[in-house]
Amino acid sequence: MPGFEVLGDEEKKEIMDVLSRGVLFRYEFDKERQGVYKVETFEREFAKYCGVNHALAVSSGTAALRVALAALGIGPGDEVITQGFTFVATWEAVLDSGAIPAFAEIDDTLCMDPEDLESRITPRTRAIIPVHMCGAQARVGEITEIAKRHNLHVIEDTAQSCGGRLNGKALGSFGDMGTFSFDSVKTITTGEGGMVITDREDLYIKASEYHDHGHDHDPTVGRGLEKRNFLGFNYRMMELQGALGLAQLRKLDDIILKRQRENKQRIKEALSRYEEITFRNVPDPEGDTATFLIFFLPTGEKARDFNQALVSEGANTVYWYDTPWHYYGKWEHLLQGKTLINSGYPFKDDRGATRGDYSNLVMPKTDEIMSRALTIPISIHMDEEIPVILKAVEKASRVL
Ligand SMILES: Cc1ncc(COP(=O)(O)O)c(C=O)c1O
Repeated sequence: MPGFEVLGDEEKKEIMDVLSRGVLFRYEFDKERQGVYKVETFEREFAKYCGVNHALAVSSGTAALRVALAALGIGPGDEVITQGFTFVATWEAVLDSGAIPAFAEIDDTLCMDPEDLESRITPRTRAIIPVHMCGAQARVGEITEIAKRHNLHVIEDTAQSCGGRLNGKALGSFGDMGTFSFDSVKTITTGEGGMVITDREDLYIKASEYHDHGHDHDPTVGRGLEKRNFLGFNYRMMELQGALGLAQLRKLDDIILKRQRENKQRIKEALSRYEEITFRNVPDPEGDTATFLIFFLPTGEKARDFNQALVSEGANTVYWYDTPWHYYGKWEHLLQGKTLINSGYPFKDDRGATRGDYSNLVMPKTDEIMSRALTIPISIHMDEEIPVILKAVEKASRVL
């Protein structure tokens, strides 16, 4: 997910445009900024790119989730279903809102399994957060259908799949709200940063006010005199990030995604020669951002052996099953209910009663799939790396 690989003159020009005027704040300073609003312009261009009515830039992908949950009114007493393979931020944001996360299995898309999702819905469920993991689509059409039937909100966590599409429609634009991350390793990067998108004006207004301490953004009064409709917080993006985002967005389709798709295809062809290897189900290969190539071995044991052989031959691989951030079996702080708060919140209430207990969380389908999945991260500049990977695949094939 390598937007940082193409940081260049375009980003420098945008940054200098901000520095030369000395305005880092996204609001106010109308005279000094001489008509330059980088964050606002980034929002406008991002909304257009995704084909939605509204985009709100925020300080991170985690903040984007938090703001979306707030705009939807989700909090204590509510449950939100997400999946057992995602970055911790997805459920951290739910817990931070006061709601309780529940987890659905993944399927061979490595995203939420719609069949399992339905069985996790309870009278307390208010929202579903499917995650478009590792650059490609969840079965989001089926998920939004289920949500509609049960009158639930959908927030698409698109942090890892900016630029991805399903049948031509931008990922993030299927549910009530979509969230994105532009952190330092994402497909486009602003260092830290995120975006919330939605077609609904009411949700956009709530999100915009909430992310800015509740300012009602009344254009007829000065910023210091604005009123507040409700409590908020500060999740604002600043102008330097907006400037970077603009330059990166303009490179997304024709440079970043194009090169990634070419590189992924070259490696996939080499792996396709082995009948023991099968590939992740990508519902719409044309809309894949191609940030990862994920494939399966017949057993977990074979996956470990093949991974070890690839690594010893110099290939860079990820075995998510053993990594601490993305797979539920490694989330020991969630499983053990560890929190800084003296009362034990959010796992306990102020009387010590359990609010959320994950000590017995078992997801056999997710375990089975993750234990067999190996990943090769794809980047833009892989000319030297690809021959190493291809050679490593050939040599490692002895363990198949
Ligand atoms: C699926 C997912 N959701 C949310 C986030 C959080 O984004 P950020 O790092 O910008 O807070 C990430 C970041 O890696 C992610 O992968």
